Amino acid sequence: MLNETIKQSRSDKNLDTLFMKTYGCQMNEYDSSRMADLMKEAYGLRLVATPDDADVILMNTCSVREKAEDKVYSELGRYKKIKDKRPDLIIGVGGCVGQQEGDRIQKRAPYVDIVFGPQTYHNLPEMVKQIRRGRVHLTATEMPEIEKFDHLPTPETHGLSGYVTIMEGCDKFCTFCVVPYTRGPELSRPVHDVLDECQKLLDKGALELNLLGQNVNGYRGAGPDGEEWDFTMLLYAVAALKKLKRLRFITSHPMEMTTELAIAFGEIPKLMPFFHLPVQSGSDQILKAMHRGHTRDDYFRMIDELREHCPDIALSSDFIIGYPGETDENFADTIDLVKRVGYDSAFCFKYSPRPGTPASKVIDDIPESVKDARLQTLLELTREQAKTSTKRQVGKTLDILVEKEGKNPGDMQGRTPDFKIVHFQGQPRQIGQIMPVKITEAYAQSLRGELFFA
Ligand code: SAH
Ligand code: SF4
Ligand code: F3S
Repeated sequence: MLNETIKQSRSDKNLDTLFMKTYGCQMNEYDSSRMADLMKEAYGLRLVATPDDADVILMNTCSVREKAEDKVYSELGRYKKIKDKRPDLIIGVGGCVGQQEGDRIQKRAPYVDIVFGPQTYHNLPEMVKQIRRGRVHLTATEMPEIEKFDHLPTPETHGLSGYVTIMEGCDKFCTFCVVPYTRGPELSRPVHDVLDECQKLLDKGALELNLLGQNVNGYRGAGPDGEEWDFTMLLYAVAALKKLKRLRFITSHPMEMTTELAIAFGEIPKLMPFFHLPVQSGSDQILKAMHRGHTRDDYFRMIDELREHCPDIALSSDFIIGYPGETDENFADTIDLVKRVGYDSAFCFKYSPRPGTPASKVIDDIPESVKDARLQTLLELTREQAKTSTKRQVGKTLDILVEKEGKNPGDMQGRTPDFKIVHFQGQPRQIGQIMPVKITEAYAQSLRGELFFA
């Protein structure tokens, strides 16, 4: 009887508003904006800033580190209170926790209508329709062969930057990581589709494009010539698009690093000198245990080659500390690697066991206090390096892509080629332009400068 009532009220009421909560990587940010595009096209839904007045709530979750599931359930607790008052509210949980947990989510939180994974979200309008027709609980976590991208509407741009997923998934199976299980195998979009989406974003006003993938430099897509194109070939083709001013990409894997890619950094002026190349650890023993597929010396050779072709390249990495079995000596090797490379920025994480991964079957033996101490040491070093790298910019005149107004009156905000934030006194009409700015001051996370008139 209750179900019948809900069924009735649901199909009668128009859907107007969508609230989205996104966790995780840029891939998830991209997926969320595509979900919003889809729901806008199918139901005319507009995004709202709080869940309280939404007709549909979609969570796009991340499962990469500890407590991911707990975070999802505690957020869902908030939504339950809203649904208690408005039973016609539709709640969907997507992304990597959705994929990993499947219908366990609805067993624990029965008020969740839809659980879906990163490879099924193109079916959201249909799933919402079924729920509105009275279906209770839907789980869609299969990994279909079909190209999800063929089912998505033309993307919207947000500001001057456009994001394009060029490949998805991961076949690397690092022992600590859930991504291969949540995102599925590596799959590259055809070159033509990528270029087409890039062009559409440029036509809508994007000046900068960000190519996305879990192992973006492992791209192997069908080329228009019938051959398989690798990542570097694609970079040259995207860079040739006329309206494009700046090109970036994320995230790369050292095992997919090539000499051609290092050369491209030197040869393609639109390719910005910033490279996120996660190494995770500086210890050969730990790299081997993690199944990363390369040694620290291999990594040093890659960095040397990059710097040979692009001396100013800004480097960044992810690090995991406290991987099972990590000794003081292993950790010292990581510190040594960081000192030798010299990073512009770094993301440092304490190891946490993730469900279903090989590492989770080994005892997580490094005491929390040791992990904390090592993390602190690594953070201090990488923060110091970041500061040194911002300080090095003082006195230089850099090309800044002006993105928006800053917080202080008269301030404009933009980014340097190597992705650092710069504030300067300017005019809103400069948004979208690339302006020369002389850097006058360096802070921990950003720079200040003055417009430079020659
Ligand atoms: N594909 C990318 C990164 C994906 S996950 C790559 O291979 O580099 C993003 C980062 O989360 C990883 O680089 C790693 O540093 C961290 N991470 C992944 N699993 C983790 C775990 N179990 N514990 C702690 N950090 C983890
Ligand atoms: Fe995870 Fe490794 Fe794949 Fe990166 S390469 S997504 S860390 S399994
Ligand atoms: Fe997280 Fe999934 Fe991205 S686990 S980091 S949202 S691929």
